[in-house]
Amino acid sequence: MSNKLIIFDTTLRDGEQSPGASMTKDEKIRIAKVLEKMRVDVIEAGFAIASVGDFEAVKAVANIIKDSTICSLARALDKDIDRAGEALKGANSSRIHTFIATSDIHMKMKLNMTPDQVVDQAVRAVTRARNWTDDVEFSPEDAGRSDEDFLCRVIEAAINAGATTINIPDTVGYNMPHQFGETIKNLIERIPNSDKAIFSAHCHNDLGLAVANSLSAVLNGARQVECTINGLGERAGNSSLEEVVMAVRTRQDVFACDTNIDTTQILPASRLVSSVTGFIVQPNKAIVGANAFAHEAGIHQDGVLKHRETYEIMRAEDVGWNANQLVMGKHSGRNAFKVRLNELGVEFDSDKSLNDSFTRFKELADKKHEIFDEDLQALVSEAQTKDHESIKLISLKVSSETGEKNAAKVQLSINGEEKTATAKTSGAVDATFSAISSLLDTDVNLQLYSVSNVTQGTDALGEVSVRLEFDGRIVNGQGADTDIIIASAKAYINGLNKFLVATDKAHPQV
Ligand code: KIV
Ligand code: ZN
Repeated sequence: MSNKLIIFDTTLRDGEQSPGASMTKDEKIRIAKVLEKMRVDVIEAGFAIASVGDFEAVKAVANIIKDSTICSLARALDKDIDRAGEALKGANSSRIHTFIATSDIHMKMKLNMTPDQVVDQAVRAVTRARNWTDDVEFSPEDAGRSDEDFLCRVIEAAINAGATTINIPDTVGYNMPHQFGETIKNLIERIPNSDKAIFSAHCHNDLGLAVANSLSAVLNGARQVECTINGLGERAGNSSLEEVVMAVRTRQDVFACDTNIDTTQILPASRLVSSVTGFIVQPNKAIVGANAFAHEAGIHQDGVLKHRETYEIMRAEDVGWNANQLVMGKHSGRNAFKVRLNELGVEFDSDKSLNDSFTRFKELADKKHEIFDEDLQALVSEAQTKDHESIKLISLKVSSETGEKNAAKVQLSINGEEKTATAKTSGAVDATFSAISSLLDTDVNLQLYSVSNVTQGTDALGEVSVRLEFDGRIVNGQGADTDIIIASAKAYINGLNKFLVATDKAHPQV
């Protein structure tokens, strides 16, 4: 059995299925670049047939990313597989991931198909996918609740048809670790051609067991784990990449395999995904939470100072915390700026984009004494999203006075035309959003508004996330500024711009 554990990242597909986590094509490209830098083996870039936007995103990621295999999801339907194949044409290395449900409840109630029909459709799908690429993954959806004999039958047929990876999804997060591991072991032992495919685990976190189930699968012979950054994903999420990777790396005494992941890219990836989706990472989240390496108790601090391994099982810098932290200021040059951002996983696709970000950095350095990695990431993230926006903030003036309503005067450029509006309500943010809304012919609902400080101190950048809903569609907007009202306006405008680019989307499991 191989000692390489393949990391299949599905942040851009299953992760994006979290309500409210939709990403634009440009955001997906930015995340894919960080995943490539992290040396993720397979990036599931989307579900090509879901919408024009998804197709374009898979295609763009396939054309840009060179070192990771790019994958598209496809139901076991001819039209899905052909759409996935089309989107992946430009990839250096491509994979089609096709699936059909195999549990009794899904076959009867959702598909209205007999087990025989499901086997036939699985075989047909894998055979068709093999016409597009030699790398075909098959998933029996809801395997965690499927009959084991039937799983053996459908998987054997899929491997005979050419599937090279067999992914076992615990679609509803129902399994217990010992049971999921046992299933993997039994399938590998019982299926006569199992040696012709790599077995994979795809676990959901409904009972908080996604990582435990994935690791149990690895202990029982799985050599691919499907996971997402920050554990993002449908409902309670998927297995978290950082937890799986660090568990395997830290406990090499237990696991007979390891990943190829550059773990120093974990924190930049976590921050980027959190900022793009507006899904804040809880402080006590393993590996990437703000407190993951913070020792508060005196006895722990004392122990760590005397000998680090008394209380630390991993080194913070190995997952990207404070790695080579270079504090920058107003005298730092363009090259130092570029080098530091490259180290943080950010590449500039043109001189213009570097220059725009550098200008913003200088503006920030005028307001803020020391600039930390987190500031740089927030700043560049903003510069890169703003480029293609058709609604832009030109100026904002807000007044606050005790006992008085807040007044906001906002000036926007909408498709190149300058427009001004004012609003007076109770609340500076509310007045700002009202003034902006009055300039646009839409009635969006604000579902979430959150502010966080990017670094410490009262001069810190404030990062605002908003979640907006319009006509059943949900988007996230982000903005950062040392002034949190301006950051709020930027986030709101960023969200509104996304309504102009996103398109209708189908859900793979419907
Ligand atoms: O959870 C699931 O079953 C899936 C499949 C499409 C693999 O995401
Ligand atoms: Zn899933």
